[in-house]
Amino acid sequence: MKSFDIKTKIYFGDNAMDRVRELPYKRIMIITDKFFSESSLLRIVTQPLSETHKEFRVFNDVVPDPPIDKIVVGVKAVTEYQPDCLIAVGGGSVIDSAKAIREFAVRMYSTAKIALIAIPTTSGTGSEVTAFSVITDPVRQVKYPLVSDSMLPDEAILDEELVKSVPPNVTADTGMDVLTHAIEAYTSINNNEFSAALAEKSIEICGAFLLRAYLDGNDWHARRKMHVASCLAGLAFNSASLGLNHGMAHQLGANFHIPHGRANAMLLPHIIEFNSGINIHSRSQKQYPKQVEKYVSIARLLGLQNFNTITTVRALVNWIQFMNKEMNIPLSISQMGNVSEIEYRGKISQMADAALADGCTATNPKVPTKADVVRIYGELW
Ligand SMILES: NC(=O)c1ccc[n+]([C@@H]2O[C@H](COP(=O)([O-])OP(=O)(O)OC[C@H]3O[C@@H](n4cnc5c(N)ncnc54)[C@H](O)[C@@H]3O)[C@@H](O)[C@H]2O)c1
Ligand SMILES: [Fe+2]
Repeated sequence: MKSFDIKTKIYFGDNAMDRVRELPYKRIMIITDKFFSESSLLRIVTQPLSETHKEFRVFNDVVPDPPIDKIVVGVKAVTEYQPDCLIAVGGGSVIDSAKAIREFAVRMYSTAKIALIAIPTTSGTGSEVTAFSVITDPVRQVKYPLVSDSMLPDEAILDEELVKSVPPNVTADTGMDVLTHAIEAYTSINNNEFSAALAEKSIEICGAFLLRAYLDGNDWHARRKMHVASCLAGLAFNSASLGLNHGMAHQLGANFHIPHGRANAMLLPHIIEFNSGINIHSRSQKQYPKQVEKYVSIARLLGLQNFNTITTVRALVNWIQFMNKEMNIPLSISQMGNVSEIEYRGKISQMADAALADGCTATNPKVPTKADVVRIYGELW
């Protein structure tokens, strides 16, 4: 038996931020990072709270790839302030932190129900509508995707105004994260008609608007579209889950601090080649595995209609490499220039074990062996 539901109410479009004025809560804690607490942009959220005489406090101790100890600091702040609502204003790191903080505060201290409102400021993770929270253990250098429906935000507010300050490199990384979510959800073994519809629309928008948003951060139409695409992809993978691409990317983030979306973008051409079994040496076959047909459908959504199955999957791989190049995303770890080959190769075996154990890898359309994962990490150098 399968089921599909969207628990998070989504506010979007013109004047979406007016929802903040209507919030029925009395004591609010805003969870954010230093960038936002020091930026005038936070006023987009604090002003309506002040004007409606709400009591609020700002907690700004969130860092990228949130580590466990920062979650503990957040839990202490929440149990001390006793808010009835958390508003997470930030990228995936902030929203994931807020989810974990609320979860532990409620479970450990039997605190009364706390509402969670997610206001994303990157168009990337879709965390505003997912049951996932990715927390890093810096000592063991592992990223853990925690999954629980109880972590789903109650509401999400999408306002592209908050995304316009995102610099081009972060637009590129987070935008490729959106595309990877949609592609992995679409090819996941848990893919279903509902998640597929959401993923297809998200892929279509990425094809038309990601490069536009990268080239002109003030292109509000492209920004709005990508903000919606990010949420659609979040809904898709919340239902269908992800795959090996994310399982391997998490280890690159935990070990080398490669931004999450960038790690996904660099891996994506390799993972499509692995999952499809189609590489530059491939000859045509009478029958292809199911995921190959799905990659063909994805290519068509992007307007990459080509001669036959092999050339169409190749066109998809080429298009992703083209997007990476246009948006200055390195194609390999060596191109990044800040990781030594000895250090990288020394970590491959350990990263491969962690990638195979990562929850995302379980729904990959092709079951990878350790040798496969080691080879892909090696090719990524
Ligand atoms: N929960 C999920 O479903 C899910 C899915 C994918 C990834 N993740 C996790 O989310 C995290 C990545 O999130 P992210 O890609 O949104 O990046 P992020 O939240 O780490 O932010 C990246 C940087 O961009 C800055 N930033 C954010 N919004 C900005 C704005 N409007 N203007 C200028 N700068 C801004 C931040 O301050 C930070 O320095 C990773 O930890 C990843 O593992 C979670
Ligand atoms: Fe992601």
